[in-house]
Amino acid sequence: MLNTADENRRRHDLHPDHPVWLFGYGSLIYKADFPYLARRPASITGWARRFWQGSHDHRGTPDKPGRVVTLIEAPGMVCAGMAYRITPDVFEHLDHREKNGYLRFRTPLTFADGDLADGLVYIATEDNAAFLGQADEQAIAEHIARSEGPSGSNRDYLLHLAKALRELGALDEHVFRIEQFLLAGND
Ligand code: SIN
Repeated sequence: MLNTADENRRRHDLHPDHPVWLFGYGSLIYKADFPYLARRPASITGWARRFWQGSHDHRGTPDKPGRVVTLIEAPGMVCAGMAYRITPDVFEHLDHREKNGYLRFRTPLTFADGDLADGLVYIATEDNAAFLGQADEQAIAEHIARSEGPSGSNRDYLLHLAKALRELGALDEHVFRIEQFLLAGND
């Protein structure tokens, strides 16, 4: 299986005493299983959240990968999420958690109150081995409904994310449509 943890360790020259902002747009919004110094709603521009990344290690298995979110370049679009102020040692845990294809990139971010900062964001780009790519939103919902892995059901990942986005006041048509298809499939 692909593992991007080593590549991420080499990627940025972070000073151990200098905290950085990390922008989360998927499970990192609702599952903060790491220490942080501050947590603030934020957004980044030019990216769209899409359920186009395979999950072999959390919400699926190597034989039956689930579907989780990544970011796709989308000029002008705003992606809402949560920013965390963390010390660089926390990346040891995060790089392991995000090892299935995600690489850390630098990004400008805008906090909900208008303040600006630079931060890091994990993106699984189209050339990573676990990338699944575009599919019909109904097909994505069906895929999610039948997937599960060591971190739990893929369904819970989607429902937790949709709930967290609603709490942030973020309108994400892609996520909400998949949620609707998933819930309709239960009837
Ligand atoms: C993120 O949440 O920022 C990355 C994708 C994920 O872990 O769900």
